[in-house]
Amino acid sequence: MTNTTSRKPIRKAVFPVAGMGTRFLPATKAIPKEMLPVIDRPLIQYAVDEAREAGIEQLIFVTGRGKTAIVEHFDHAFELEATMTERSKSLDVLEPTRIQPGNLVTVRQQVPLGLGHAIWCARAIVGDEPFAIFLPDELMIGQPGCMKQMVDAYNEVGGNVISVLEVPEDEVSSYGVIAPGIRNGALTEVKGLVEKPRREDAPSNLIISGRYILQPEVMRVLEGQEKGAGGEIQLTDAMARMIGTQPFHAVTFAGKRYDCGNKTGFVEATLAIALQRPDMADEVRAMMQRMLAES
Ligand code: G1P
Repeated sequence: MTNTTSRKPIRKAVFPVAGMGTRFLPATKAIPKEMLPVIDRPLIQYAVDEAREAGIEQLIFVTGRGKTAIVEHFDHAFELEATMTERSKSLDVLEPTRIQPGNLVTVRQQVPLGLGHAIWCARAIVGDEPFAIFLPDELMIGQPGCMKQMVDAYNEVGGNVISVLEVPEDEVSSYGVIAPGIRNGALTEVKGLVEKPRREDAPSNLIISGRYILQPEVMRVLEGQEKGAGGEIQLTDAMARMIGTQPFHAVTFAGKRYDCGNKTGFVEATLAIALQRPDMADEVRAMMQRMLAES
């Protein structure tokens, strides 16, 4: 039986954006990797759009040194807007960057101790309510978006909900992997979780794809969390300890996912989104065909 009235709404989302982006150097020496553009929007914008579509109001960025451009991007740019208005240019293009006053909060992750530690840094702002997490490297394109699909599932089952997708078996060791239980449509019960297992130890090929809805108790679990894979405090390990005490489900995302944490994934995302955009699809398709014929 489902009871959608008793679920606390998901109003807050944490975006861990403190990473140094070393894989994209030298591009990311002075610019946060989350500000690298996919066509004409920075990577972080796609995650924020997805959050707002899912009804999330407050954005919590866990940042580090050199990340102020992300905050600037979502700030009111008075001089820019005044100049554009003076020149009769439409301000619509800036709409996605407008966040209600007070709905963007930053906290610093002072030392890079891992994803679990980054989330824990946001504990005072998250407070005592369920919240979402977005890893902006994972660019998720769907109708509706990934988080909206997850919120819909959460409204049915409550508890903790993570997004998963299938990858080839030789890729599982780069991710968090679930041990699946009973499957019901897009929903799978989560029986276990392991971060970056060896291929032969992986309980499945269903990986965590960078979107989470978690209950606030995870913050208390993270408090005492020991270092795990890669010597880092892992969110996956803390979540694993919550299985059995609270409902835990995975949603298989119906849509496309691009791993913008690596260069070829970034190129793939750029081309895929260009091919979906009515303002450029025809031109880009013809260009790609020409380039392939010539290569
Ligand atoms: C993190 C998570 C992992 C997840 C992955 C998705 O790993 O720890 O569970 O599968 O993101 O991109 P990272 O990419 O930070 O090593």
